[in-house]
Amino acid sequence: MQDFTFHNGTKIIFGKDQEQMVGQESSLYGSKVLLHYGGGSIKESGLYDRVVQSLHEKGIEIVELGGVKPNPRVSLVREGITLCQEENIDLILAVGGGSVIDSAKAIAIGVNYQGDVWDFFTGEATVTKCLPIGVVLTIPAAGSESSSGTVITNEEGAYKRAVGHDMMRPKFAILNPVLTYILPSYQTACGITDMMAHILERYFTNEKHVDLTDRLCEATLKTIINHAHTVLDDPTNYHARAEIMWAGTLAHNDLLSTGRVGDWGSHDIEHEISGIYDLAHGAGLAIIFPAWMKYVYKHDVTRFAQFANRVWDVEIDLNDLEKTALEGIKKTEEFFHSIGMPVTLAEANIGNEHFEEMAKKGTERGPLGNFVKLHEADVYNIYQLAK
Ligand code: NZQ
Ligand code: ZN
Repeated sequence: MQDFTFHNGTKIIFGKDQEQMVGQESSLYGSKVLLHYGGGSIKESGLYDRVVQSLHEKGIEIVELGGVKPNPRVSLVREGITLCQEENIDLILAVGGGSVIDSAKAIAIGVNYQGDVWDFFTGEATVTKCLPIGVVLTIPAAGSESSSGTVITNEEGAYKRAVGHDMMRPKFAILNPVLTYILPSYQTACGITDMMAHILERYFTNEKHVDLTDRLCEATLKTIINHAHTVLDDPTNYHARAEIMWAGTLAHNDLLSTGRVGDWGSHDIEHEISGIYDLAHGAGLAIIFPAWMKYVYKHDVTRFAQFANRVWDVEIDLNDLEKTALEGIKKTEEFFHSIGMPVTLAEANIGNEHFEEMAKKGTERGPLGNFVKLHEADVYNIYQLAK
């Protein structure tokens, strides 16, 4: 196990009706809030009205910026930065999913930066200041509600890039599982896939003697798998929605990466796809993760066999660990399919026209992944396997 410092400063407020706390929590950071949201689901559900009421009850002034799209765009981030500068905003309140939160984070780091915010995503600038961010989460998926990262798409060149810094972790995140009852099945399934991918990225490590975090990863994966079909078949099942929602946060709050080095190759390979095709990130991962597994499993057959056995209850064949490992990959793929995810690019209507470009763009800052280092040709081969 490697040495580590673990500090996740996001205060989690979890449970029914907890969005009524948003005024109180926001008031700890000032009296003027940028209310940031997406395409309209929060207005249809009535959440918008409840949030506004709670903020007004605490005398908080609201400036609004809606319209965040899935795969959030840098153009709206730039608009948000200007608004925050003109209006002297104290806190950015993101009400929505990963896209809204990521957009809020990018605005928050850009407000006190003199240059263009995209500089953070090219590596030309580093984060030194960040406005406080608060969250009311409406979809368990990206884990951005307590993660240190933001992922933004630049329409010029279809670049989707990430930046990470502890300063970007939200100050508070309100998680009410009831808010997720109205999610379309497809979004629920994309979220489930994404949170599983966040655990898998951490699970496939070269670090030895990480038994506790292995077991935490396995337990979280099993919990998600056990409740996935319940939330899809019975969307208003509070208990199942609550398990999935909390699992989504734990999957990506970095507890599960303590003492180990994660991989993250599949995420980078996927971001090239959603950057170009505007596919939901979770759907892209359902396609790429099994392909990545098939490409790299020989690097550590024992770890893949452990995964098959402990997560999917595949009996270990002591004479043929490879067979056990492959069975685990098959089960992963079958599970993604069973919840309605595409598992090939063809199922998502994506052809091979950009394979070379995506492999080149994805590796232009160096090889991807840590479990196995992937160069341009490897990434191309993984797209081929995902066809
Ligand atoms: O915009 P609205 O109308 O709210 O609709 C959204 C959106 O269309 C809808 N939705 C959200 N909550 C809803 C709802 N519809 C009905 N009822 C509700 N309660 O769902 C759609 C998808 O929302 P989005 O925010 O895009 O989903 P998600 O949370 O999966 O976020 C995806 C983004 O997060 C990034 C991804 O790359 C992608 O851009 N990621 C961010 C990470 C991070 N910051 O740590 C890590 C992840 O690996 C990921 O890369
Ligand atoms: Zn993800």
